[in-house]
Amino acid sequence: MRMPFIAGNWKMFKTCKEAEKFAEEFKAIYEKDDVRVAICAPFTQLAVLKKAFEGTGIGLGAQNMHFADEGAYTGEISAAMLKEIGVDYCIIGHSERRQYFAETDETVNLKLKQAFANGIVPILCVGESLEQREAGKEYDVVRDQLFADLKDIKAEEARKLVIAYEPIWAIGTGKTATAEQADDMCGAIRDIVEEIYDTDVSCDVTIQYGGSVKPANAGEILNMPEIDGALVGGASLKAADFIEIVNF
Ligand code: PGA
Repeated sequence: MRMPFIAGNWKMFKTCKEAEKFAEEFKAIYEKDDVRVAICAPFTQLAVLKKAFEGTGIGLGAQNMHFADEGAYTGEISAAMLKEIGVDYCIIGHSERRQYFAETDETVNLKLKQAFANGIVPILCVGESLEQREAGKEYDVVRDQLFADLKDIKAEEARKLVIAYEPIWAIGTGKTATAEQADDMCGAIRDIVEEIYDTDVSCDVTIQYGGSVKPANAGEILNMPEIDGALVGGASLKAADFIEIVNF
């Protein structure tokens, strides 16, 4: 049985001070033990949050990492650096990185391998643009992404994967996919994982929906049969909003 997994994606928001304040507020109201929870924060806040979340069971995630062990890659962060801080998860292939920072399926694939090699659970983001959905190509787009992103990744690693279905047109726009649209695609993603691997792997993989999830729509989305959790951007920035989603 897959446990629901709600992860916050803070993107490029919050200073260390603000992160500490969030952690104090959130810890005071967080009491769930039947939902997996994590915050994916900017690099500079990770050590602060690690300390603040100690003993709470709240997981910690980064939002990106490099695929090399180390090297002359100015401005980049390695998996070992994240691991040293105690990071559990790393978002990989977020559409904002694909769109603004030249992330490709090839680099996503290398980063996934590097995350697994270092014991970091990747949260792999896939999803179509509005144009692709309007052209009826959303399933093909997501299928192509998954085949390329998961190339040569072994089944025993893939089964630990978290996949976030994030339609680009629903991110930060206030436009949420309907619960049915999100559920359909999450089901399709599970079928594709089964096609790439087998039924066991597809049953183990956690599939989240992301894109304008907020307290008002979280219950409906998270109670859909194919949706195992959510990747939450804007609504994860306030402890009071995020807890409502966690307590869906
Ligand atoms: P949003 O972002 O909830 O602000 O739409 C989700 C995401 O990009 O992960």
